Amino acid sequence: MVELAFSILASDFAHLADEVATAERGGGTIVHVDVMDGHFVPNITFGPPMVKALRPVTKLPLDCHLMIEDPDAFIPAFAEAGATMISVQQEACRHLHRTLQQIELHGCLPGVVINPATPVDMLIEVLPMVHYVLVMSVNPGFGGQKFLPLALEKIAYLAELRHEMGLNFRIEVDGGVAHDTVAQVVEAGADMLVAGSAIFSPGKTEQNAVEFLKLARAAEAARNEQEV
Ligand code: DX5
Ligand code: ZN
Repeated sequence: MVELAFSILASDFAHLADEVATAERGGGTIVHVDVMDGHFVPNITFGPPMVKALRPVTKLPLDCHLMIEDPDAFIPAFAEAGATMISVQQEACRHLHRTLQQIELHGCLPGVVINPATPVDMLIEVLPMVHYVLVMSVNPGFGGQKFLPLALEKIAYLAELRHEMGLNFRIEVDGGVAHDTVAQVVEAGADMLVAGSAIFSPGKTEQNAVEFLKLARAAEAARNEQEV
């Protein structure tokens, strides 16, 4: 079943707990937390204290997307703060295999992320050890950017590799996923849909999530029919 991972980057930080509850009422099942350090990406957001503050306000899994240099130094702090899933950028990891092991050792589900310029083939060796692969469909750093269609082929290729290699990692997509792009993303094979600006909007968040998921589920049904 495809899931909506709503990105709190687009939410009203002054009312974060309410924002999360509203997106959850609309059917969102994963809280996507965009961690930016001003080095790996040209923007700064939040760190482990934000994850710690979120942990008691929702039962949903907290999916921490680390867009930071030296993620190894921060994995213990995110795990301790209550992260459920931690993903690291392939481009930021000198020893990706070790970093993924560390995430697992700290009791979190490991994920790996690739930027638009990074080919899927960079991940072949680590695919057996990840819970999910996150395909960026924008260059990371900001919400509200335009979806890059090159992500579609990467999603489809990952789905093919998963089948060929007999694996069951999930495929997540992030950036510009909105009501007008979600169907193609799901048809290509994505399972976890990150969306921020398409979901959060004053007074409309719940409805946005409901409509987004309706489109996603219809595309999923079409995809399943093709597979049979
Ligand atoms: C971008 C972040 C995304 C962002 C998506 O660097 O990783 O998670 O919040 O925002 P939208 O859905 O607005 O493209
Ligand atoms: Zn993200």
